[in-house]
Amino acid sequence: MIHPEYQRRAYLQAMGIDVWLPRDADEPEDSAADTVLADNLGWDELKLCVSECTRCGLSTSRTQTVFGVGNKNATWMIIGEAPGAEEDRCGEPFIGRAGHMLDEMLRAVGQDRKSVFIANILKCRPPNNRDPKPNEALKCRDYLDRQIALVRPSIILAVGKFAAQKLLGSDDAFEQMRGQARDINGIPLVVTYHPANLLRSPSQKRKSWSDLCLAQGLVAAAVE
Ligand code: URA
Repeated sequence: MIHPEYQRRAYLQAMGIDVWLPRDADEPEDSAADTVLADNLGWDELKLCVSECTRCGLSTSRTQTVFGVGNKNATWMIIGEAPGAEEDRCGEPFIGRAGHMLDEMLRAVGQDRKSVFIANILKCRPPNNRDPKPNEALKCRDYLDRQIALVRPSIILAVGKFAAQKLLGSDDAFEQMRGQARDINGIPLVVTYHPANLLRSPSQKRKSWSDLCLAQGLVAAAVE
């Protein structure tokens, strides 16, 4: 059940009306940020819930949350690690150099950032580019699960070791996770290199290309 207060705020926001809250406003009863689960939320409510999230300490250092962008009915869903400095500033995932590399990867499979949906495991930037902490990923998880359930993509591309491990609930080494079709909740998932990694090690592009071909084959099989 969606708490009526969150529903009210989502409607007001959708109508373009600013929602002003007193600085010391209490969270609505039984909906302390920790306990509002995203399971049944629609897009607007989910986005609002994320934007107000205080589930972990990253809420105190972020400029803004980075919800995700793209086609809400996408065939391809791309999932990365966490926003970096530029994403924190602009509110959009994968901009900057890694974003351009991701654009190239998408172009190689006939997609672009408008046709796919792009999200991250974390919706907030870890300060000083430190690695995300396990409890941050845990607390953010149901937001991503809800995004996946709403998009219902035919393929998930997990870019980088952190995203792959968190999505698959695995501690396996990166190379063990890539190169084969995986599955979460019935959705095929392919693990590939993080675009930032391809910028550092262009020689991995060949392997990344074979991951993208694998993903493309799974999409083709899904629509047959
Ligand atoms: N790296 C990520 O994993 N996600 C972003 O949004 C940007 C860089």
